[in-house]
Amino acid sequence: MTHIMENLLTDHRNMSVLLDVLDQEIRVYSAGNRPDFETLTCILEYCVDYPEHYHHPNEEAVANRLILQGPSHAATLASLSNEHAEIATMTKQFSDLISVAIAEPDSVNQAVVEYGRKFTAFYRAHMGNEESTLFAPATETLTDNDWKIIEAACALHPDPLFDEHIQDAYRALHQRIVQRAEKSRAASPLPMSAPKYQSRAC
Ligand SMILES: [Fe+2]
Repeated sequence: MTHIMENLLTDHRNMSVLLDVLDQEIRVYSAGNRPDFETLTCILEYCVDYPEHYHHPNEEAVANRLILQGPSHAATLASLSNEHAEIATMTKQFSDLISVAIAEPDSVNQAVVEYGRKFTAFYRAHMGNEESTLFAPATETLTDNDWKIIEAACALHPDPLFDEHIQDAYRALHQRIVQRAEKSRAASPLPMSAPKYQSRAC
């Protein structure tokens, strides 16, 4: 598997961990307790800082090359970029709703609960769709030369949350994810499960 595909897959695994954390906080909120709004806000900022600016454009670079292999891939590309645009809109809307909820400490804002569930479900379905309609055919079909062309078009940017050098703004969130992975490992029977988040090899 190419370096680009490995990174894209790692990004998906890492995003799944963040979606789990979002779901957990939404459950806390829907039960009438105050969620960790700082974590929720930080995850949504990450969604803009890394997936929106780097992961999604790189996927579209792969899709653009795949479409040259045949018209059957055209629909993949169309729905992919539409879903990326939809995720960008949803991230902004969810973030705005959370800002409103932060200012309402005495009540549960149901719009945040409902939108949060919708956001994580949409994101998970989107990633699953990409893995079957983009990642799998790209891995099977594209040649070394195709990957060289894709690499030239891709911006390989460090992940500010999951790579070795964590940006200051993401240190607290990273710590929470590490603790979550440690708890998960401690709770798993033998054989030990793999860590639920991964650093990328870039
Ligand atoms: Fe993706």
